[in-house]
Amino acid sequence: MPDSPTSAIDPADWPGLRAQGHRMLDDMFDHLQTLHERPVWQPIPTATRAAFAEALPQGPTALAVAHERFMRQVLPYAVGNTHPRFMGWVHGGGTVVGMLAEMLAGGLNANLGGRDQMPLEVERQVVRWMRELFGFPEGASGLFVTGSSMANLIGLLVARTRALGTASRDTGLGADGAHLVAYAAMSAHGCIAQAMAIAGLGTQALRRVPVDAAHRMDLCALERLIADDRRAGLEPFLVVGTAGSVDVGAVDDLAAIGRIARREGLWFHVDGALGALGMLAADIAPLLAGIEQADSIALDFHKWGQVPYDAGFILVRDSADQLAAFASPAAYLARHTRGLAASSPWPCDLGPDLSRGFRALKTWFTFVTLGSNAIGAAISQTCALARRLRERVELEPALELLAPVALNIVCFRVRCANSDRVNAEIVADLHESGLAVPSTTTIAGRTAIRAAIVNHRTTAHDVDALVDAVLTRGAARTHLRASPATA
Ligand SMILES: Cc1ncc(COP(=O)(O)O)c(C=O)c1O
Repeated sequence: MPDSPTSAIDPADWPGLRAQGHRMLDDMFDHLQTLHERPVWQPIPTATRAAFAEALPQGPTALAVAHERFMRQVLPYAVGNTHPRFMGWVHGGGTVVGMLAEMLAGGLNANLGGRDQMPLEVERQVVRWMRELFGFPEGASGLFVTGSSMANLIGLLVARTRALGTASRDTGLGADGAHLVAYAAMSAHGCIAQAMAIAGLGTQALRRVPVDAAHRMDLCALERLIADDRRAGLEPFLVVGTAGSVDVGAVDDLAAIGRIARREGLWFHVDGALGALGMLAADIAPLLAGIEQADSIALDFHKWGQVPYDAGFILVRDSADQLAAFASPAAYLARHTRGLAASSPWPCDLGPDLSRGFRALKTWFTFVTLGSNAIGAAISQTCALARRLRERVELEPALELLAPVALNIVCFRVRCANSDRVNAEIVADLHESGLAVPSTTTIAGRTAIRAAIVNHRTTAHDVDALVDAVLTRGAARTHLRASPATA
């Protein structure tokens, strides 16, 4: 047995480690300070990819060497969502303070499954802030999770347990479970159907409610579907409203859905992955009216909240419902009134995870150091930029707007022959050029260039650069296609 007080895993040379650590921090500061000088994304060279197919290392490598590899082989080939001209999918830009908080959390190595520790009070602080933001009562519970895919799943599982009773956790879904049906707009995120599958209810038990011209849930259709299902002997139990649809950023009429849910005795869950934090922005919050009536809300701090990945969150109006769905007795997790096993309930009583990281710390640092007003202002700014992009699209005869712009997402395309193919090629061209990264989606069967402006670093100049690049690539592509035909 070694009798040294130091572990073989901890560094032998602390001064050397300190210098190397400072170099790593400085490199990351340099990277973040000069983002705009680099391509948003670039293809991964074959040799770089192959470098990560090596055998399990048996001996050590110097930290400086591993760091040099990170700088050369990893950092330049990431998704690029920190870059101001990243507008693909719905990715947040991150914050420098969030990065620093991640380092502190890593050093602390806290496990936030439970126990009486101050890190849990930091998470509880964020839960209180979310209660305040959404006008939820004192008895509301909240939990950090990976992202809204998990938060929506937890919301659905709480609603399912509420509908079937806590005993269903032992007996399974049974005959009653086979009758449960839920409702979400056609435009709802795919993770809602996925949650139905994981919950054992089946995706067919999710009614996809048609949407109106603004891509919002058609409320008459919702009421009709509920009535049809009741007539058929089924048991409607849940309606999911979306605050910011993934494709176009549409916000369902949450107040009306809340009224229907109450009248029909349904659980009202809001998927606010993209849009719920719009409550921080005075010009966006009115669009979310009714969210305060929800029984549960899923949201992502890693999107509009700009907190580094990952930082999803579920808020449940009545903690008793969340506890009923997840709390489980276990001798090794016994609670006491004194000592480290005090401070019940614990986060492991509110969701499926027992071991959990300290996601709350980077969120707390982001809110405390920046202030919620600055985050709200960044949210407003992304929506103003989306309006600017929409105006530019409307003014360009070569471009066509494919969906209304409610928040921060603009779907458009170049008008041309073979436009589905050509617009997809334009997007891939842009990615490979490193100039800008929009993504694609399909609107009414047509391929759209989709710019989701989430990053707080994006400026009007970046939006103009995107439009100019689309026009240039579009002209080149349509010219290329026209040439063989005219030759
Ligand atoms: C509306 C909506 N719901 C759910 C999700 C899934 O969230 P996450 O990627 O954090 O799991 C997204 C992701 O973009 C989304 O836009």
